[in-house]
Amino acid sequence: MAKAKFLIVGNWKLNPKTKKEALSLAHGVAKIRSSRAVDVVIAPPAPYLGILKKNQKLAFGAQDVFWESEGAFTGQISAPMLREMGASYVIVGHSERRLFAGDTDEMIAKKIKHAVSNKLIPILCVGEQKRDQDGAFFGIIKSQVEVGLSWLKKGEISKVVIAYEPVWAIGSRKAARSEDANEAALFIKKTIAQRVGTKAARAMRVLYGGSVDGKNAEMFLKEREVGGLLVGGASKDVKEFSSIIACAQRL
Ligand code: PGA
Repeated sequence: MAKAKFLIVGNWKLNPKTKKEALSLAHGVAKIRSSRAVDVVIAPPAPYLGILKKNQKLAFGAQDVFWESEGAFTGQISAPMLREMGASYVIVGHSERRLFAGDTDEMIAKKIKHAVSNKLIPILCVGEQKRDQDGAFFGIIKSQVEVGLSWLKKGEISKVVIAYEPVWAIGSRKAARSEDANEAALFIKKTIAQRVGTKAARAMRVLYGGSVDGKNAEMFLKEREVGGLLVGGASKDVKEFSSIIACAQRL
């Protein structure tokens, strides 16, 4: 099967510090992004979304979402609000939120459902804290995928993008081996196939994330099961991020 268009997502996390810097970074990225071959998404901090959306050339994502549309939920943001501010994607279940904000698989499942119901494309992040020789970490990935998608109807599952992000590879400058990323992506598709069948599962996009940069992007994108990249640190550097996009355009 031919590969779908690559999806390259830049997760800015809690950066940059000012609106001015955010505008200049988005401007730089918009300049390099000029291709039919790749989908590029920028996920800035939520307050910048409305400001950056004026840049029509880019697609935007949020870094988290709540599971209700309105009500007494102090501090939360809904999918319709994010859409109105220009987001078409949302990262859900990033390991930093699992770690620092207490997101559980059950909460993540509700967020994914709310996103899909409101036409935001969720990027569900899964990945083990550590790899063990016996492969027990596959069990962790399996349950993160199964529970994360558990609120969706069968027909909704294909709307989700999965990002395989081994926690030990995030921000560590120690990316996974590309064959391990490929194996995990295949494993994720096989897990999903149990609910939707092989054909639908194979058509899904599974991204790799964890210390991706301009140098190693190609080796991941060349892997058969890897449909794109979720980039943290390197997405804040226009040069580095553009070389990742250029690489996706070449392949
Ligand atoms: P990193 O982050 O590219 O800085 O490792 C990836 C991520 O957290 O999504």
